[in-house]
Amino acid sequence: MARLIVVSNRVPLPDEHGSPPPGGMAIALNAALKKKDGLWMGWSGEVKGEEEPPALITREAGGITYALTDLAQKDLDEYYNGFANRVLWPIFHCRVDLAEYARQEMSGYYRVNRLFADLLMPLLQEDDVIWVHDYHLIPLAEELRRRGCRNRIGFFLHIPWPPADILFTVPIYDTLLRGLSSYDLVGFHTGYDLSNFAECLRREGCGDLVEGGFCRAYGRLFRCGVFPISIDTAEFESLADQAARDEALQENYRRIAGYDVVIGVDRLDYSKGIDQRIVAFRRFLQANDHRIGKTLLLQITPKSRSEVPEYLAMQKDVAELAGRVNGDLGTIDWVPVHYINQSLGRPELAGLYRMARVGLVTPLRDGMNLVAKEYVAAQNPHDPGVLVLSRFAGAARELEGAVLVNPYDPESMAHAIERALVMPQDARIERWRAMMARLREHDVYRWCDDFLSCLHQAQNTAR
Ligand code: UDP
Ligand code: G6P
Repeated sequence: MARLIVVSNRVPLPDEHGSPPPGGMAIALNAALKKKDGLWMGWSGEVKGEEEPPALITREAGGITYALTDLAQKDLDEYYNGFANRVLWPIFHCRVDLAEYARQEMSGYYRVNRLFADLLMPLLQEDDVIWVHDYHLIPLAEELRRRGCRNRIGFFLHIPWPPADILFTVPIYDTLLRGLSSYDLVGFHTGYDLSNFAECLRREGCGDLVEGGFCRAYGRLFRCGVFPISIDTAEFESLADQAARDEALQENYRRIAGYDVVIGVDRLDYSKGIDQRIVAFRRFLQANDHRIGKTLLLQITPKSRSEVPEYLAMQKDVAELAGRVNGDLGTIDWVPVHYINQSLGRPELAGLYRMARVGLVTPLRDGMNLVAKEYVAAQNPHDPGVLVLSRFAGAARELEGAVLVNPYDPESMAHAIERALVMPQDARIERWRAMMARLREHDVYRWCDDFLSCLHQAQNTAR
């Protein structure tokens, strides 16, 4: 059987409690790869000395074999903290205002992609299928092809693809577009991302989608498709069931169990709309006096990318905002916003989702958003909570039972929270069943199988 070689910047090496790091890409693939024979290559999370030669070390963890490389600080600064997270991440999330383009960082990005290609080439066997993930590694197939790699290579983008005018603000957008034309299959979360990609090619006059799920661009013909990522639905349901029966966990929650809990779970990232959510929650309390002292927002927000200035600034801003709302509205025995700046493990998250009457998932822009799906999967089928979901999350295209909101409109969000809290049980059950049917059929294994079976049929050719 052909081996599967997964390549991504972040790998889900479990922490001391056995939990993978927060972040949708690693968590979804972790679930999928456990069932396959293969190897996962990526950054070890460690920094090496500038003079140390690059190398791969192999490690087994959680049933997966990893081939890991340390990166030098200069590489991390230019590739990860620089071009990937100060240009591609903000631009692909339509935050042109936050993008900081530096030519030096762009060369660091390409240098690390060449390094990944150099390290990967000697590991490859003829039949291996390579699956590259996310915006850190767009040029990887081009680099592998330059080194003579003829294996099947697929690429999946875990974040949105932006509209053409936004992408074109990246000074080297054409090099990125061209890089994708070296893959056999390029996958996106939604039809909207795929059509934005096609629009970029058309506007450049260098390609377009053609019949049968193909794309012709830069003289190459390759497959393109939509593969909405998902969760291990059955596992999450069972985690939530176990948490509901776990007395120690329930005892931990005792302090908040008497309140109507509204939950938010996000990496500390400006794309997640956390500020806007807290502001909306304040409006909700101000507009609904009877909720004062009875409802609380539990916002779980592990720190993320703290070496990137925009993320560092956010740490202070969100903490201050949560503190202000608590200072303005809180009472001796009630704190409206419980702001937790740490990462929680999955069993605990599942239990908290189950306890919360409202899942408030309101990113300003998000490729998919797995938290929305996890919240649904964790609900008690007989008395489910309500998902309030941003229309700008990829998940909004699938989860039709959610109450959709515009995260830029605090009044409508405040209204949606109240609507969710007063929704009758039969309406909640009906909405939940529709979403659960979708999640049971389209889980992370289906996502993985759909992508890989399409990749097995794909072959990049000159046209
Ligand atoms: N997550 C976690 N612990 C936390 C917060 C988040 O394990 O404290 C997980 C969460 O359960 C989800 C993932 O991190 O599986 C976040 O994925 P999502 O697609 O929502 O957003 P991303 O972080 O990928 O932008
Ligand atoms: C998103 C990205 C992933 C990334 C994750 C966590 O899910 O699509 O590629 O791994 O965020 O971010 P980090 O920078 O910690 O890897």
